[in-house]
Amino acid sequence: MADGKATQMVERGVTLWFTGLPCSGKSTVSGLVYDHLKSEGRRVELLDGDEVRRNLTKGLGFSKEDRDENIRRIGYVCHLLTRNGVIALAAAISPYRAVRDDVRGRIGSFVEIYVECPLEVCIQRDTKGMYKKALAGELKAFTGVSDPYEPPLHPEVTLHTDREPPAASAARVLRRLSEMGYLPGLHAPQEPYTPEEEAAIRRRLEQLGYL
Ligand code: ADX
Repeated sequence: MADGKATQMVERGVTLWFTGLPCSGKSTVSGLVYDHLKSEGRRVELLDGDEVRRNLTKGLGFSKEDRDENIRRIGYVCHLLTRNGVIALAAAISPYRAVRDDVRGRIGSFVEIYVECPLEVCIQRDTKGMYKKALAGELKAFTGVSDPYEPPLHPEVTLHTDREPPAASAARVLRRLSEMGYLPGLHAPQEPYTPEEEAAIRRRLEQLGYL
């Protein structure tokens, strides 16, 4: 059998769908997963909400209809990539459960990653100052403040980005993918610290006044 065919048989495409509130950590964690898979020589593509909205879905707004259309288009591209053996990563708020489930049904090889983070922590992070504007009433229909977010009911992975560093979240995603058989021969990065070690470091930093 030709090498190309053999490769195609072992490389299974899959869509990794990161969903969560603004500033929950979707871009950060999906970026780390992407970097790791790329460094392993896997065929991988990342569709990040902010960038997609400057290109593929330019012109769409934030009504329910437009958000659903945004997700359908991202899902369509992920479908094409997945069926060609690529690992497609999507990082978008994707606040509505029904359209996420619809995309899941179309793609089949779909791993939903709920990037869970309490709203208060997201508001503290506020990397782009948008929560501040939304809370001041200057920005309408902002997810988590004045627009809904429907968490997944049965995600394959739930991350807690307020309690674990991004590298640990990324390692958990990769481990789950490996368990599901999507990454034959994975060299998973080691989690930098166990939760106990992490807590001890945190306590020490607090004692020293850094936190
Ligand atoms: S989604 O709801 O359609 O999935 P998407 O992830 O593509 O959203 O885009 C979210 C990004 O758009 C945020 O990171 C933020 O920078 C920007 N944004 C602008 N207005 C809003 C809003 N009303 N709600 C959420 N995000 C907004």
